[in-house]
Amino acid sequence: MKNLKLFIFCNVLFLKFAAQGQASFTIQTDKPIADVASTMWGIFFEDINLGADGGIYAELIKNRSFEFTKPLMGWKITRPKTSTYSDFIASDILVVNQQEQNKINPHFIRVTLKNHKKGDLGLQNEGFRGMGIKKDLRYDFSVLYRTSPASFKNLRGLEPKMHLELVSEKGETIGSGVFEPNLVGLDLTWQKGETSFVATATDSKAKFNIWFEGTGVIDLDFISLFPTDTWKGRKGGLRADMIQILADMKPGFIRFPGGCIVEGFNLAQRYQWKNTIGKVEDRQLVINRWNTEIANRQTPDYYQTFGLGFFEYFQMAEDIGAAPLPIVNCGMACQFNTCEIVPIEQIGPYVQDALDLIEFANGSAISKWGKKRADMGHPLPFNLKMMGIGNENWGPQYLERLGIFQKAIKAKYPDMKLVCSSGVFPDESFNFLDSAVRKMKGEFFDEHYYQNPQWFLDNTHRYDSYDRKSATKVFAGEYAAQSDHVVSTENKNNWRTAIAEAAFMTGLERNADVVNMASYAPLFAHVDGWQWTPNLIWVDNLRSFGSANYQVQKMFSTNKGTQIVPINHEPLLGNCIPKPKVQSSNLDSLYASSTIDKNSSEVIIKIVNALGKSQAIEINLVGNKQISSTARVIVLQNDNLEAVNSLDNPMVVAPKEQTIEIKGKKISLNLAAYSFSIFKIKLNE
Ligand code: AHR
Repeated sequence: MKNLKLFIFCNVLFLKFAAQGQASFTIQTDKPIADVASTMWGIFFEDINLGADGGIYAELIKNRSFEFTKPLMGWKITRPKTSTYSDFIASDILVVNQQEQNKINPHFIRVTLKNHKKGDLGLQNEGFRGMGIKKDLRYDFSVLYRTSPASFKNLRGLEPKMHLELVSEKGETIGSGVFEPNLVGLDLTWQKGETSFVATATDSKAKFNIWFEGTGVIDLDFISLFPTDTWKGRKGGLRADMIQILADMKPGFIRFPGGCIVEGFNLAQRYQWKNTIGKVEDRQLVINRWNTEIANRQTPDYYQTFGLGFFEYFQMAEDIGAAPLPIVNCGMACQFNTCEIVPIEQIGPYVQDALDLIEFANGSAISKWGKKRADMGHPLPFNLKMMGIGNENWGPQYLERLGIFQKAIKAKYPDMKLVCSSGVFPDESFNFLDSAVRKMKGEFFDEHYYQNPQWFLDNTHRYDSYDRKSATKVFAGEYAAQSDHVVSTENKNNWRTAIAEAAFMTGLERNADVVNMASYAPLFAHVDGWQWTPNLIWVDNLRSFGSANYQVQKMFSTNKGTQIVPINHEPLLGNCIPKPKVQSSNLDSLYASSTIDKNSSEVIIKIVNALGKSQAIEINLVGNKQISSTARVIVLQNDNLEAVNSLDNPMVVAPKEQTIEIKGKKISLNLAAYSFSIFKIKLNE
C-alpha cells in the first residue's frame, strides 16, 4: 500500500514535470574539473568610435597641435559680425609649417596683433562633437608659446593677452579665464603656459574660445584644455566615468591597442608603440584608420594623438587590476585593406619593437627602455606576461612572420606567452591556422567571432571536443553577436544579441580548461561619433552606460569562480529511458555552466533560458559538501528581445537580485522567459 502510494505520487510528480517540460541540472560541487584562469573574462580596447581621442582620453580640444591633414580642422577663426573683407585678408592668424626643424610636430599658429581689443580676433575650438563641461569643476588650460623679437619692439605696454571662454551650445559664457604670456626675458624658445578656471554651468556640447588682445606676434601650439576630475585626478589624464565602468567589470585582462588599428590601413599607419610614450608633445599623431573605413560612417576628423599611449594603457591595466595584453604589428598591414607586408629581410625592426616593448614594461629602471618607463613615473615593472603577435592576420605569410617573432622573443624571454592570430573567420582561416599554431606551441590562439545570434546559440559546444592535451589555449579575443550583419550600421546592442552571447559564454566557461581568455569587442562608442556597432559601452561627452551585452559580460566576470565543476543537464522528454549524461544541451534552449569559488566557498551556477516562455527547472547539488539554506539569485531578463539600454534609460536590461530558500540540496523554480540567471550558494565542508 505504502509502495503504491509512493508509485502514484512519483507518477503524479513526473507527469507534472513532464507537462511543464521540466529540465534538471545536477552539479557535482566537490569534483572540480579545472581551474578558471584569472584572466578568463577581460576587455578589448581599441581606438574606434572615438574610444580614445574624444572618449577616454579627457582632452577637450580637438586638433590641439594643428597636425591634422587640414591644420585648422576643429578650429574656426572668429571675428566680430562687423568685420570687413580687409580684416579677413589681414593674415593675422597663419599656420606655420616648420617641417625642417620639427618633423614630429611641424605646425603651429602665428597670431599677429595690432592694438587688438577683446572680441576683435579669436579662435574657437569645437571639441569632439562639442565639449562636456561640468558646473563648478576646474578646467586646466595649457599652451606652448613663444614671441618673436619683433613683438617686443611693438609692445608699448600692450602686451598680448588671451581671454579664455567656454560657451554653451546656446552661446552663453559658462566659464572664463585669462592667460597672460610671460614676456620677460623671452627669446625664441617655446615655453609652456598654464592657467585654470571654473565652469559656471553644465553643458555637453560646449565650445572653447580664445580672444586675443594687445600688440605683438605670438606663436601658439599644443593648445589644451582638461577637466580636473580625471581618473585618480591625474593631470592630462583619462575620463573617470569611463575607467570606472571598466573597473566595475573586474576584468582579468585588458587587450590593447586593438584590433585593426594594430595593423593599420597600410604599414605606415600601423600602431608603433614607441611613438606613443614620453612627453605628449613629442608623440607624433597619425590618422585613425577608422577615419575612412566604414563607407557610410566616414569620420574625417578622427586622428590618434596618442595622449593615451602605451604607458597609459599599462597604467590603466594596473589601476583596474587587469593583466596587460598588448598586441604588436607582425609586419603585415590589414589584409582587408592594402594587404601590405614587410619583406622578411626587413622584419628586424618590427621584432625589435616587440623585444623593446617587453623591456619597457618589465625591464629594470636603468635598462634603456625600462628607464623610459621610470622617467614617466613608474620605476616598478608593469609585470607583462603575454603579448599578441598580429591581429587578424592569416595565411602562410603570417605563420612565417610569427615564427620569427616567436624565436626571437622566446630566446630572450622564454616565459613570455604569445597570443597567435587565427585570422578572422571562425571556420576558414581558423582551420588553416589552428593546427599550425598548435604545432608551433603558441600559447594562445586568438579567435574572433562576429556572427548572428543563432551562431552563438549553435556554437555553445564549440570547445567541448577541443584537444585537452594541446599546449595552445583559446583566447576568444573579439566577439559580439550582430543583430543585422557584421559591419552593418544597423546592428543593435539588444537583448537578443546579449542573451545569445550569455548562452555562448556558458560554453566558454564549461570549457575553461581550454578557454583561458575572452573579450567582447569593440568596447566603447561615442553616440555622436561612432563608426562600428554594436559596442559594449556607449558614451556622450558627459555620460556613459553599459549595453545589455555589458551587463552579461559584467555578470560573468564578477561571478567567475575559481574552478569549473561538472554540470549535467537532463531534459525530461516524457519517457523512462535513461538519457546519456551530457554537460549541457540546447535542445530546450537552456544553457548552463557552473563553477565553485574557493575564496568565498560558493557554488556559482549560470543558466540561460533562451526560450520565449518560462521553464520549470530543478537544480540538484550533489557531493559531500553541505550547502546553505538560501541562494542569491541574480537575474538579467527582458520579455522583449529588441530591448536596449540607452543614455536616458540605461537600466532597461539590468540585473535584479533576490534570495531564495533551498530545501535539502534541491532548488525547483521557474526560469523566466529570455533570462540569464546566476545562482550563488554557500558551501560548507
Ligand atoms: O572590433 C572591430 C574590429 O573588428 C577590430 O578592429 C578587428 O580586429 C575586427 O575585424
